[in-house]
Amino acid sequence: TGDFTLSGRASAKVVIIGAGVAGLTAAYELGKAGYDCTLLEARQKAGGRNLTLRGGDRLTELNGAAQDVNFGAGVYFNAGPGRIAQWMVTLDYCRELGIPIETFINNNASAYVHTNGRTVRARTARADMYGYIAELLAKATDAGALDKALTRNDRESLLEFLRRFGDLGPKLDYAGSERRGFTKFPSIDGGTPMPDPGTLHQVLAAGTGRAITNDFGYEQATPMFQPVGGMDAIVTKLQQAVGQDRIRTGAKVTKITTMADGVEVTHTGGVVKADYCIAALPPHVLAKIPHNLGAQITTALATPVPIAAGKIGLEYGRRWWELEDRIYGGVTETDLDLTHIWYPSHDYHAERGLLVGYYNTERVAELYSALTPEDRRRRALTQGKKIHGEKYRQNLLSSVSIAWERQEHIQGGWVRWPSFDSSFTLLQRPAGRVYFAGDWLTHLIAWQAGAMESARAAVTQLHRRVLQSP
Ligand code: PHE
Repeated sequence: TGDFTLSGRASAKVVIIGAGVAGLTAAYELGKAGYDCTLLEARQKAGGRNLTLRGGDRLTELNGAAQDVNFGAGVYFNAGPGRIAQWMVTLDYCRELGIPIETFINNNASAYVHTNGRTVRARTARADMYGYIAELLAKATDAGALDKALTRNDRESLLEFLRRFGDLGPKLDYAGSERRGFTKFPSIDGGTPMPDPGTLHQVLAAGTGRAITNDFGYEQATPMFQPVGGMDAIVTKLQQAVGQDRIRTGAKVTKITTMADGVEVTHTGGVVKADYCIAALPPHVLAKIPHNLGAQITTALATPVPIAAGKIGLEYGRRWWELEDRIYGGVTETDLDLTHIWYPSHDYHAERGLLVGYYNTERVAELYSALTPEDRRRRALTQGKKIHGEKYRQNLLSSVSIAWERQEHIQGGWVRWPSFDSSFTLLQRPAGRVYFAGDWLTHLIAWQAGAMESARAAVTQLHRRVLQSP
């Protein structure tokens, strides 16, 4: 990763189907190398799943009601991607395009964990789980149960670590810890610590495991980042760099033909002839477009399974989560069907603010998407109230919900390959003069970085071919 430039210039004509992040990145990189690109976008605007909603927008969905977005000035909702890991190429594009970024807080010890009907702060859940695990392991070590695996020195080192890891007492007991937090934080007095932890049995039964390990992986590790002012800054800047005039919106492709000397792409507004084509749209959408690329390609395109994903943005007139819960950004993890609540990592102390009231996938996302927008909101509020109480329903100004599988020309949050098999690798190579691009062709599915890496791989192959052709 890092800055990317195709070396050597060319001037071939390329038609790109889909002006989402993959299509825009392909056009941007090809444009830098001198190519003449045209983008055909079926939707009314570019960006694809990189969608930020603001006051004045209108969101329509397949077989659903249209929603008017009534957010106040400055309030936005990243309906698609919302966070970027430090190692992702997405940040290189932000830098190259001059997009300011800020921290996205995805791990906040002050946020809650709600499992099995109980709500505790993440710091409390962690302190208890780490405490008891440390106690068990420390006592086993101390009793000699691990002597086969440990030298005398190992034993000492392990015990020393476990004392810190669990905040254990002198007898290697976990008996609670200030790490659990306070009902009243220390000030001129010592404060009121949280009451004693439950028993080992209760802590295990609480089932907080998934919630407190969410950010352990390389994809979700803190700190993460977001563009200032909304994720669609990436779309806006790419569009500007590519040239608005090269992007044709409302152009639904109805036929793709590869020939010996070029490609022909038919769309609702005409026909585009070019030297090459990059098909940068979801595989399940592409699979339905008539083409002459062969039966194997059709089968391969139909292999990835679209996954439902949904989110609701709840705009409040008062940032009660900052004022009352003292939560500044972060995520509350739950075993409810809302799955996650995201608190905004920006514009702290502003008057208004927007929570992501649910962010879920697969079966629970389908459950919400089947509801009307009003019922989705009602359900989200009923569930969120279990965590935040009655204030969750107060000062609510407006809301918008998205069901990605109901977005026209997208029809899914992302896809899952049953296995990364020969269909996956087949589509990483061109079919005639048609190349494919998208997050779905990488091991970074459901990340903009996947779309960008895939676009780079496609334009690299295409460019090599152009430079080699007589
Ligand atoms: N990128 C999405 C997110 O951050 C979906 C995702 C979640 C992908 C977890 C991989 C791992 O929520």
